[in-house]
Amino acid sequence: MDNHYALTVNGRAVNVMADPRRPLLEVLREDLQLTGTKYGCGEGMCGACSVLVDGKRVFSCMTPVAEADHKSVTTIEGLAPGDGLHPVQAAFLAEGAFQCAYCTPGMVVATVALLKEYPNPSTFEIVKMLDGNLCRCGTYPRILKAVRRAAASMNSSTREAR
Ligand code: FES
Ligand code: FES
Repeated sequence: MDNHYALTVNGRAVNVMADPRRPLLEVLREDLQLTGTKYGCGEGMCGACSVLVDGKRVFSCMTPVAEADHKSVTTIEGLAPGDGLHPVQAAFLAEGAFQCAYCTPGMVVATVALLKEYPNPSTFEIVKMLDGNLCRCGTYPRILKAVRRAAASMNSSTREAR
């Protein structure tokens, strides 16, 4: 039976009627037309469907919509204010850290969560935190560079803001 859920998605209040077990990924892509979040494996093994729920990275293919009720969901579309790019998006672009780019929204969202936890991550921390995100094109070396570039850029703007 469908239930009513009240979510905040990319800063906007959203009401949805859905089966409580329906994956958040389906609600985002099919009901809200937020197709930036990708369907990869559908079973928590690739990270393509990564979104932030209350600031924490989750696999939206494995998250029932009921678990996001009254929570704040951020997708790739909601990372940057206005038409600009989030520093992580800008860093991926600058490093050319994609080939087909299917994994990129998930990688970027996971990197945002990573840099919140580790503002100046070591290679070990980057690899550990992004371990759940797969890139079938094998752009990992460039992704590593992009993460380091994003960290440097975010740290310097934090310093400038002081
Ligand atoms: S689609 Fe969710 S982890 Fe692969
Ligand atoms: S760039 Fe193709 S899957 Fe990562």
